[in-house]
Amino acid sequence: MGEAAVEIEDAGLRFGDRTLWSGLDLDVAPGEFVAVLGPNGSGKTSLLRVLLGLQPLSSGSVRLAGEPPGRGNQKVGYVPQQRAIDESAALRGTDLVGLGLDGHRWGVGLRGMARRRRLVAGAVASVGAQSYARFPVGRLSGGEQQRLRVAQALVGEPEVLLCDEPLLSLDIAHQRAVTELIDTRRRTAGTAVLFVTHELNPILPYVDRVLYLVNGRFRIGTPDEVMNSHVLSELYSTRVEVFRVGGQIHVAGAHSALCEDLPHHADEQVP
Ligand SMILES: Nc1ncnc2c1ncn2[C@@H]1O[C@H](COP(=O)(O)OP(=O)(O)O)[C@@H](O)[C@H]1O
Ligand SMILES: [Mg+2]
Repeated sequence: MGEAAVEIEDAGLRFGDRTLWSGLDLDVAPGEFVAVLGPNGSGKTSLLRVLLGLQPLSSGSVRLAGEPPGRGNQKVGYVPQQRAIDESAALRGTDLVGLGLDGHRWGVGLRGMARRRRLVAGAVASVGAQSYARFPVGRLSGGEQQRLRVAQALVGEPEVLLCDEPLLSLDIAHQRAVTELIDTRRRTAGTAVLFVTHELNPILPYVDRVLYLVNGRFRIGTPDEVMNSHVLSELYSTRVEVFRVGGQIHVAGAHSALCEDLPHHADEQVP
């Protein structure tokens, strides 16, 4: 086995006197699929921002594909948390996907342009977006926009794929399509996946390991090792029951623990 795609070593992140997490050690292997779970405010997005080089650590270190994180690191693909794209945006779907390519790498000459077009067309086809990729993205549905964002994240053939709640506001069919696409990529190209989500069940069949963050504490392990009543009760410091029904995992009790900590997110579901 080669070196880890993501190496997180004794990493800590603090804002003022608030510690989001500390002592975080995690190596993600090429092709591994890691789900990042935890209540709102537990620092999931902040972890992705650290890996993108947008947020410095308070302590420890991270490396991606053997290199320190940094803006424009072409080895990293990113699917940001979904926001609606301005309806007036003139950008076409293919333009959006093309933003995932580093211009310098392909050059600006005719051959570079042709190569770029081929790569973009391939990424568009891989998410099944051919029929709408030429339209302005502002006119597309949330699901269509999200598939194009996934294409943008994958077009540069990243070694690491960071996804921040990519299934939010997608219907079941599109959730499945996006998840299967990401799974295929990590199996065929060995892309390591860190997948932040509130909903473990849609991705559960694909998940190798879970990183569960709660209130500065965390656990890392297979879904079986982490998603059980004992471990989650310890993490939340309150009685939490985990039920398995028809291959799905349901968590009861963490909801009230979450509300005490974060009154302004009282309607949140966990996980
Ligand atoms: N640059 C920052 N300065 C101060 N606080 C921040 C900063 N970035 C994030 N936070 C705080 O860190 C906490 C975790 O945020 P986030 O990583 O977005 O959590 P999650 O994605 O798990 O909901 C939040 O309370 C947020 O307000
Ligand atoms: Mg977040």
